[in-house]
Amino acid sequence: MTLDLTTTLSDSQRGESEVTEILANPGFGTYFTDHMLSLEWTPEQGWHDGRITKYGPLSMDPASAVLHYAQEIFEGMKAYRHEDGSIWSFRPEENAKRMARSSHRLALPVLDPADFVQAVDALVEVDQRWVPQNAADGAGEKSLYLRPFMIASEVFLGVRPAQHVTFMVIASPAGAYFKGGLTPLTLWLTEEYTRAGRGGMGAAKTGGNYASSLVAQQEAIAHGCDQVVFLDVAEGRYVEELGGMNMYFVYADGHIVTPETGTILEGITRSAIIELAQKKGHKVEERRFAIDEWREGIASGEITEVFACGTAAVVTPVGTLKWDGGEVGTAADTGHEAGPLTQEIRQDLVDIQYGRAEDSFGWMHRIC
Ligand code: PLP
Ligand code: COI
Repeated sequence: MTLDLTTTLSDSQRGESEVTEILANPGFGTYFTDHMLSLEWTPEQGWHDGRITKYGPLSMDPASAVLHYAQEIFEGMKAYRHEDGSIWSFRPEENAKRMARSSHRLALPVLDPADFVQAVDALVEVDQRWVPQNAADGAGEKSLYLRPFMIASEVFLGVRPAQHVTFMVIASPAGAYFKGGLTPLTLWLTEEYTRAGRGGMGAAKTGGNYASSLVAQQEAIAHGCDQVVFLDVAEGRYVEELGGMNMYFVYADGHIVTPETGTILEGITRSAIIELAQKKGHKVEERRFAIDEWREGIASGEITEVFACGTAAVVTPVGTLKWDGGEVGTAADTGHEAGPLTQEIRQDLVDIQYGRAEDSFGWMHRIC
């Protein structure tokens, strides 16, 4: 324990019946818990003024740097309630380390990974009644989604790394990210917009990447699709990732391909799936994966399953890929269900997260 935190409990916490009602049907990203955590940073004082206070709007100077230059990073993680009532997070030190890498890219100060984990734990402990009861099997497992983020809060319009930075954690009870649960996603291939180039911010979890994805997401929605597939910026040939998820391709011979890292977000779910699939005896290739391999692999039957993964989306099957002038669908799409390996990997993962299977990888961290 290295962080000094003061806790001032909210004097207007939601009543038990209201919390129960929200947890029965939380949706995603709509409801927030009673408290939030904040920390301040300046070059002179380092990280200081750690506090848990009542959740509520921030009072911000309109000249705060983040509002103009988007010097901001964030993380996404979840707290899970196990059958015995205990509360756990999944590989939180990986989120902490990724936030440190994002800090470097966005010229923000690094929050020590141990302090990051302590801060997240502290908020969850205070708001533990907001972690939904044990998950249902199948789609729509419930959890408390945690959103740590760091913003340039210095009041200054010059363009340089901020000298006052704020780190916060907020929490939001969550059900399935996609309303359709395990219904295969329909994806839109954008050939006009890209997400990240060499030397860019693709590997950082920073708001700007999501802002730049929105016009393509709008295009996807207009074409009746759920999410956008981005290709590499250099050749417009290789699959990178979706707006908020990594991708996997399953071959008939049992091997699996996932796009290599560099310009994509290094997903913590993605890396867990590599280990889970390898343990099940599947060969996993991390490599460049051309969009034509996708189209041709589905058409020939060589690719039997496609799925996407991420903290919010867990493991979600992919059905049809659409582009300007064509589309191709997997078998899973016609059956309106996930393929067998997609289902198995999803189940293996959520069983570990909800404490229903042995955590042989040592991924789970007990919060309280
Ligand atoms: N790629 C993008 C762009 C994302 O926003 C996310 C979600 O966090 C992921 C991939 C998956 O990352 P993780 O599994 O760490 O949530
Ligand atoms: C997450 O999965 O945590 C994300 O940040 C992605 C976003 C689509 C909610």
